[in-house]
Amino acid sequence: MHAFSSVPCLPEAASTPIGAEVYRGLTALPKRLSPWLFYDQRGSELFEAITELPEYYLTRTERDIFAQYADEIFEAADAKKLALIELGAGTAAKTGLLLAAAVRRQGRVSYYPIDISASALEEARRRIGEEQPQVSCLPIIADYTTDRSEIPTATGVRRMVLYIGSSIGNFEPAEAVALLRRLRGQLAPGDLVLLGVDHVKDRSTLLRAYNDAAGVTAEFNRNVLTRIRRELGANFRPGLFRHRACWNDRESRIEMHLESLVTQEISIPALELTVSFRRGESIHTENSYKFTPESVAGMLERAGFAVRREWTDARRWFGVYLAEVAGSR
Ligand code: AVI
Repeated sequence: MHAFSSVPCLPEAASTPIGAEVYRGLTALPKRLSPWLFYDQRGSELFEAITELPEYYLTRTERDIFAQYADEIFEAADAKKLALIELGAGTAAKTGLLLAAAVRRQGRVSYYPIDISASALEEARRRIGEEQPQVSCLPIIADYTTDRSEIPTATGVRRMVLYIGSSIGNFEPAEAVALLRRLRGQLAPGDLVLLGVDHVKDRSTLLRAYNDAAGVTAEFNRNVLTRIRRELGANFRPGLFRHRACWNDRESRIEMHLESLVTQEISIPALELTVSFRRGESIHTENSYKFTPESVAGMLERAGFAVRREWTDARRWFGVYLAEVAGSR
């Protein structure tokens, strides 16, 4: 018998990033899909809309912290000249307040936004060029979660890596530490990280933020099915899935699920796959971890950083943490 006869032969689409993720996630039990699948063009637009919802306090609260404390953040960084690098910068809409404070402190600033979306980076470069001429915006198109050597170096300039918007909260705790540790490996003593994270708070505030009255988050969640329909030919009917957000206290996270309203079979031709759903069965689509000052410090410590200072809002809903490479001082 041929030695390879037991290796299943998967269709080509199963080796593309989306195909592999959908194949793995929908053949797993319980079913799951990774949150990076949310961000096609429509998903990115819906996320932008989420950040403006009255219930979604995260973006607004972080922005208020920057508005109040950006100058203090750069004082605490205590560097003559800093280059700013932003992971997952997108259009860099929320970075303006930090860039302005950096300009006030040091005059010219080099800013390296890193993102996989070339069009978002182009918009960032155009807007910053118009609004903040003292900032040299040098975009880097890369996936910071996998591309290892994307943090630019420059002699005599210290680096501050911005990782804001609570994006770290969408990784599993071990993945978050691994990501920060990889970042640490690319930094030198004296370099800094500025991390924005969402804090644990009362359950109803958290639940409202992920289940808004206008249904934008529900549409954002269901859009992943529309994407799989379009890109893999699946016959999902998004209306037959209900958006569900719940608080998992033990894991300190909001979970998002898509719950099948009926018993149904979905076929995904590009993957030569049929997936059965029982009524009430769900696909786990996102975790959004919430932190305490202690859990943030612990995560950073495990990755080789030490918190230097932190800033929060009056309700302590969100935290901005300045951390240095451990042992820098
Ligand atoms: C991008 N990320 C920080 C958002 C969050 O809050 O976890 C994604 C999101 N999911 C639902 N609403 C917003």
